[in-house]
Amino acid sequence: MLPALPGVGFKPDHFAAIRQDARGIGFFEIHAENYMGAGGLPHAQLAAIRADHALSVHGVGLSIGGARGLDGAHLDRLRRVCDRYDPESVSEHLAWSSHGADYLNDLLPLPYTEETLALVCDHVDQVQGVLGRRILLENPATYLCFAQSTIPETAFLAEVARRSGCGLLLDVNNVFVSCTNHGTDPRAWLADFPLHRVGEIHLAGHDAETLPSGPLLIDSHGAPVAEPVWALYAEVIAQAGPLPTLVEWDNDLPEWPVLAAEAARAGAILAARGARLAHAC
Ligand SMILES: [Fe+2]
Repeated sequence: MLPALPGVGFKPDHFAAIRQDARGIGFFEIHAENYMGAGGLPHAQLAAIRADHALSVHGVGLSIGGARGLDGAHLDRLRRVCDRYDPESVSEHLAWSSHGADYLNDLLPLPYTEETLALVCDHVDQVQGVLGRRILLENPATYLCFAQSTIPETAFLAEVARRSGCGLLLDVNNVFVSCTNHGTDPRAWLADFPLHRVGEIHLAGHDAETLPSGPLLIDSHGAPVAEPVWALYAEVIAQAGPLPTLVEWDNDLPEWPVLAAEAARAGAILAARGARLAHAC
């Protein structure tokens, strides 16, 4: 288990600064696909980080929702990363990103039907069997809905967790982005979501555009966490209690103190909730 503290995505640009001062950072998260090579500087840096910190391995390329089955070679590469670093958490997305030999650099949405539910459960079972561990599955940021969908996203995720035994990764920014794009209420989404299954939370910044049809939010991971997302996050923590919370910042990377300050803001919300829990006891 990851500690119920703030974490950040590890970026090589920040390596020297992290070695100087990583106070308040409870864990680091990496994208598994960046560490599937055999050696070199990436592994040397990650080994140094891992020696001192809890680690989350976050896959972005398994295509768990893919219609043609998982890529066994890619799953084996993920297994090797996990065996090498023995992370406290492994996670992937409720999305697809490859079809046959075509790999797309994006996390694409699924129709939420009984057919895709069975397929995703089968794939999560397969991943957990190969890795020999429970994984967390993350709610996606989406920009369209399928007319074929018959199951609400929250119920779909809850059922995947129930059938497969996996945990869930709640990306609060993704909730806000998706609900804004679809004209629905993020608080209603969260009210239907099984918070007791959550093993980690993600926060991230998004970009905003205005289309003739209305606002469009893009899950860019290239900006500070937006104020409405902080508000939703505080409500989640008030309800669920302290949970490991990652600040994702992958594009237009800021200097380390800026990212550390975002993590500290999450840490203050977690600490305030933890103090109220302690007081209640
Ligand atoms: Fe995320």
